[in-house]
Amino acid sequence: MERNAIWLGLLVGAWGCNGDDETDTAGDDGTPGDTDTDEEEEENEVPPQGYAQLDPWLDAGEYLDWYCEAASRASTGVSPHGIVRVCSNEFASEHATGEFPVDSASVKELYDVDMTTLVGYAVSIKVSTGTSGGTWYWYEQVPPGTTITGVTIDANGVVADGLGDDGSQAETICASCHSTASNDYVFVQVGE
Ligand code: HEC
Repeated sequence: MERNAIWLGLLVGAWGCNGDDETDTAGDDGTPGDTDTDEEEEENEVPPQGYAQLDPWLDAGEYLDWYCEAASRASTGVSPHGIVRVCSNEFASEHATGEFPVDSASVKELYDVDMTTLVGYAVSIKVSTGTSGGTWYWYEQVPPGTTITGVTIDANGVVADGLGDDGSQAETICASCHSTASNDYVFVQVGE
């Protein structure tokens, strides 16, 4: 059975993180001299790479301290991602145009068609300077057992886990489509 409607969508078990920010209420109001360095670190946090570390990092909702869209929504444009919500870390959020700074990162939450059940993630991280697909790390996980014609999905539901020039699906699926974005492989940036 194919699940095209949510083809890049799912990981079994929603961990109850339905978009509520964590309980860091310190409040960075952006005023000069804000000394809340813990919060600064969270907003600039760079995800780990590789399923073993990234899967638990995502489950823990660390990226919820970033800048996140208010609610899940349907993807736009050529996106195959289904129902989504994007969060940008501060490096990505504050960037204007052109090449993103190293450590810019985005997490895209993937939702079931009910728009509330979190079922997977797509992640991009700028890992080196330059403008090729290999300057980005790409990761995506969907529910184990999902089948999509022509796409290899491992036993953990991982679709992509690598650099955009390594010959894997990180290159052939993710980077190849994101290369059509006008701004260094990034389509959506969430502002402060
Ligand atoms: C056919 C084109 C296409 C493919 C394939 C694709 N994406 Fe995307 N992706 C998009 C579009 C378009 C958006 C923005 C759409 C929106 O959010 O409304 C997007 C958004 C994202 C975002 C949020 C940041 C951004 O750039 O907007 C991440 C992270 C992401 N994709 C990761 C991946 C990963 C990882 C893969 C490979 C498994 C992948 N994408 C495959 C088109 C694609």
